[in-house]
Amino acid sequence: MCGIFGYVNFLVDKSRGEIIDNLIEGLQRLEYRGYDSAGLAVDGKLIKDGDEEIMNNIIIKTPGKVKVLKQKIIDDEINRTDIFDNHAGIAHTRWATHGQPKEENCHPHRSDSTKGEFIVVHNGIITNFAALRKYLLTKGHIFESETDTECIAKLFKHFYDLNLKAGVSPDLNELTKQVLHELEGSYGLLVKSYHYPGEVCGTRKGSPLLVGVKTDKKLKVDFVDVEFETNAAQQQQQQANGHSSLLQNNHSTSLDLGFIPVAPGEQNLRTSQSRAFLSEDDLPMPVEFFLSSDPASVIQHTKKVLFLEDDDIAHIYDGELHIHRASTKSAGESTVRPIQTLEMELNEIMKGPYKHFMQKEIFEQPDSTFNTMRGRIDFENCIVTLGGLKAFLPTIRRCRRIIMIACGTSYHSCLATRSIFEELTEIPVSVELASDFLDRKSPVFRDDTCVFVSQSGETADSILALQYCLERGALTVGIVNSVGSSMSRQTHCGVHINAGPEIGVASTKAYTSQYIALVMFALSLSNDSISKKKRHEEIIKGLQKIPEQIKKVLNLETKIKKLCNDDLNDQKSLLLLGRGYQFATALEGALKIKEISYMHSEGVLAGELKHGVLALVDDKLPIIAFATRDSLFPKTMSAIEQVTARDGRPIVICNEGDAIISNDKVHTTLEVPQTVDCLQGLLNVIPVQLISYWLAVNRGIDVDFPRNLAKSVTVE
Ligand code: G6P
Repeated sequence: MCGIFGYVNFLVDKSRGEIIDNLIEGLQRLEYRGYDSAGLAVDGKLIKDGDEEIMNNIIIKTPGKVKVLKQKIIDDEINRTDIFDNHAGIAHTRWATHGQPKEENCHPHRSDSTKGEFIVVHNGIITNFAALRKYLLTKGHIFESETDTECIAKLFKHFYDLNLKAGVSPDLNELTKQVLHELEGSYGLLVKSYHYPGEVCGTRKGSPLLVGVKTDKKLKVDFVDVEFETNAAQQQQQQANGHSSLLQNNHSTSLDLGFIPVAPGEQNLRTSQSRAFLSEDDLPMPVEFFLSSDPASVIQHTKKVLFLEDDDIAHIYDGELHIHRASTKSAGESTVRPIQTLEMELNEIMKGPYKHFMQKEIFEQPDSTFNTMRGRIDFENCIVTLGGLKAFLPTIRRCRRIIMIACGTSYHSCLATRSIFEELTEIPVSVELASDFLDRKSPVFRDDTCVFVSQSGETADSILALQYCLERGALTVGIVNSVGSSMSRQTHCGVHINAGPEIGVASTKAYTSQYIALVMFALSLSNDSISKKKRHEEIIKGLQKIPEQIKKVLNLETKIKKLCNDDLNDQKSLLLLGRGYQFATALEGALKIKEISYMHSEGVLAGELKHGVLALVDDKLPIIAFATRDSLFPKTMSAIEQVTARDGRPIVICNEGDAIISNDKVHTTLEVPQTVDCLQGLLNVIPVQLISYWLAVNRGIDVDFPRNLAKSVTVE
C-alpha cells in the first residue's frame, strides 16, 4: 500500500541531487508494499514574491514505478548541484483509493497551484474528505485532483491564512493540530511549506510512521519528551475551533469570523529543547532525519528510530525532533518516546543471489523457523519459554475462550494450529477473519483472550478488530513479525515471530514462523499439565527437526519446476484437497497460487468433496492432494479414490517412501519427510509455495509485485 518517505538534513551539506537520490532510494525500499504511482517534493530556488523572497518548490510525480519517476527527474533536467545545509524533502508511493493512478492524483499534493505553499504526502483514507472538499470549495480553493489527500494540503493553507488574518504567525506543529482537528479517518502524513523552510511535521493515526535519526555525535538521552497541550492552550484551541470542527459549523463562515488564533502572544516562540539533541557544547549538531512508514527504508542510513504513536505530531526543525500531542496528558500516558535500535540488517532486505524476494524467503525458511524457536525452546528438557507472554499465561489459562483474529495468510496459520491449541489447552478456540469479525460485531467479553496474528502488524482490518477487543476489555495477544508495528505496541502481550523482514507480497516464511509461534504458545499454556507431558515432548522433538526437514523439502524444487513447466503451465484452474491439519495447508496453497500466478485455485476440505466440488472433477482438472500420515490418512485416501474414480489424476503430497500412494492413477507424488501430525503442515506447505512461485515465473509475472495486491493492507 502507500508508502511515505521524508528526509531532513541539518548542518549536513547536501546537493539537491543527493537529496533526490535519498528520497528515490527510500521509495525503492517501499516498493515491495505494492503501489501504482510515485512522487516527491524538494526545494527549488529563492524567488521574489512581492516584497518577500520565497523558496519555490519542485514537485515531480508520475503513475508507474519509481524507476519511471527517476527517469522523469532526468528528463525534466532538474538541477542537481545546488547545495542545502538545511532542507526537508518528502516523497510517496501511492496505491490508488480515491481516483485512478494518473499524474494529478499522485502525491505530493499542494495547497494551491500558484505557489504551492503547503505540500503533503499521505497514507490512509480521510473519510470526511467529501464534506471537507465541499467546504473548502466554498472558500475559493481550487482542487486539482480527485484524492482525499488534497483537502489536507488545502486545510493547511486555510488555517494558515486565518491565523495570519488574526495577526498570528503559527508554529507548524500548532497549524498541524488545527488541521488534524478536522480530519476523520486514518492517516500517516508529512507536510512541508516554504513558510517553514527546512522543517517538516509528520503525524499518524492508524497508519505507521517512524523517524530515523542519524548523527555522528552521541545522543544525550535515548528518548524524546512528549510535549502535551497545557490546559490553557487546550481551552484556547477549543475556543478557536468553536468546540467543533469546520463541518459541524455547517459549512458557514462563522469559523472564519469567530476564529481565534492558536497561540496569540506565543507565535513561533520555541521554549522547549529536545533533550536528546542537546550537544555537549550547546552548539547545534549536524543531524539527518528519515521519516518513513517502514523501517526497511531507513535501515541503510541508521538503526536509531523512534516509532510514533497515534496522534503524535513529530516536528523537526533546527536539527531537533519534538513530539507534540494535541491533548493534555491523561493518567498513565507515557511522557517519552524511546529512540530504539532496529535489529534488522541491511542484507535482510536485499535479494542476494535470488531472483525474487519470494524465492529468497521460501529458501530462508530453515533459518527463519530456527530463529522463531531460538532462545525459546530448551530442547533437552523440553521446556518452552516465551518471555513476552510469561506473565500473562495464568490469566490466559483461566480465560473463557480464545479468539484468533487475522487476515490472509496469517488467518491460515491460525486455522493450521487451532486444533493443537484446543487439544493442548482444552480451551475453546475460534478463528476469525478480521473483516468478518467486525462486520458481525461479534460479542467479546472481559474473560476472552483475543490473539491477533499479523506479519506486518499494520493490517487495517486486524488493527480495527484489535481496538474493538480492547474497548471490550478482552486480553489481547499479538503474534507479529514487524517489531515496533502498531499491533505489537497496542496488544497487552505477545510474541515476535522473528522471521526477519518479509518483502515478497505473497507471505511464505511468515506463515511457517507464525505457525511455530502459535504451537509454542499452545505448548506454554499447557506446560504444567502432567497428562500432556508425552505429547509435549513429541511436539518439541518434532520442532527441533523442522529446519532440517524443510531443507530436504526444498530439494524438490527441480521436480516442481518441471511439473509447473510441463503439466500445470497451461491450466486455468487448480484444486487443493486436504483435511484435518491439512485443510489449512490446502487453503494457504490455493491463496499463494491465486496471488502470484493469477490461476484460479481453491482449497477444498476433502470431506466436503462429495458435497459439490466432485462435479468439477474430470481427467483434465489438476488436483493437488495432501495425503501425509496422520489419523485422517484413510479418509484422505478415500477422497483420492473418489477423484481417481472420476478419471482425476491428482498430484499427491505424501510422506517419503509411502508406497500406498504410488499407483498408476496418480499423476505424480511429491514426497516430504514425516513429522508429528500437528507440525506436518509446516513441511507440506513448502511444495505449494514453490509451485506457486514457478507457475508465476513461467507466466512472466513479477512475483514480488502481483497486480492489484499490496504487502501491507493499511486500508479497510
Ligand atoms: C495482504 C498480504 C498477505 C497477508 C495479508 C495479511 O493481503 O498480501 O500476504 O497475508 O495482507 O497481512 P498481515 O501483515 O496482517 O499478516
